[in-house]
Amino acid sequence: PLVSMTEMLNKAKDGGYAVGQFNLNNLEFTQAILMAAEEEKSPVILGVSEGAARYMSGFTTVVSMVKGLMHDLNITVPVAIHLDHGSSYDKCKEAIDAGFTSVMIDASHDPFDVNIETTKKVVEYAHSKGVSVEAELGVVGGQEDDVVAEGVIYADPEECKTLVKETGIDCLAPALGSVHGPYKGEPNLGFKEMEEIGAATGVPLVLHGGTGIPTKDIQKAISFGTAKINVNTENQIASAKAVRETLAAKTEEYDPRKYLGPARDAIKTTVQGKMREFGSSNQA
Ligand code: G3H
Ligand code: ZN
Repeated sequence: PLVSMTEMLNKAKDGGYAVGQFNLNNLEFTQAILMAAEEEKSPVILGVSEGAARYMSGFTTVVSMVKGLMHDLNITVPVAIHLDHGSSYDKCKEAIDAGFTSVMIDASHDPFDVNIETTKKVVEYAHSKGVSVEAELGVVGGQEDDVVAEGVIYADPEECKTLVKETGIDCLAPALGSVHGPYKGEPNLGFKEMEEIGAATGVPLVLHGGTGIPTKDIQKAISFGTAKINVNTENQIASAKAVRETLAAKTEEYDPRKYLGPARDAIKTTVQGKMREFGSSNQA
């Protein structure tokens, strides 16, 4: 069923595992992620950035595609459609009105009081529709679509406590050294702050920039209250590699199904591996 993130993340936090958010880019990504979740008996969050939604023609198309696939693929595990890095109240409302079951309001670039005010407004509207809300503090490094960062700023534990208390968000993404896209060298995550923020806020924490984080750090993050881990780049790399290899081996090939099919298989395998690593397999 299509659900919000609230129950799946609270269950994950209590159970000591994390639910993966895997970003959609097109039909094949959506098929692969849903099939992986069903096969793993895992809850799953479908992440949709504003850029990816534009590419797929809009929020309504995304929701219709997901609903259609859930029906045709007989998906029985809990699935959330989540706006990733929502840039404004209006964008969040637009996604909710189109049928998204969860939104992230990313006002982390605004002054703290503005972030609180915007987030509060989103929570009010979202909760009235049974939709969950994620908010962010600090700055995740790297780039993902429209979200570009010059450097990395660690979230402040005091501000995290205030934000959660004032807004009633369902989960919090404190930026603690993670990066969108590949890491240059080993990631250096602020586990001390993560532990403090997890304990002080009591809400499930979200780790952005899941691509390239070693398993030992994933396990540590989960032990400090991380219940949602976002992965996008790793699936993009796996699918691009499959397309390159297929077309290099068959230079006369032109049927998209012949090279996008292998891309879909590669995404599915990658997602299943993540679900096992995050411990969400067999938790649906
Ligand atoms: O919001 C989505 C993510 O944080 C994905 O990060 O592309 O580095 O895996 P990634
Ligand atoms: Zn992110």
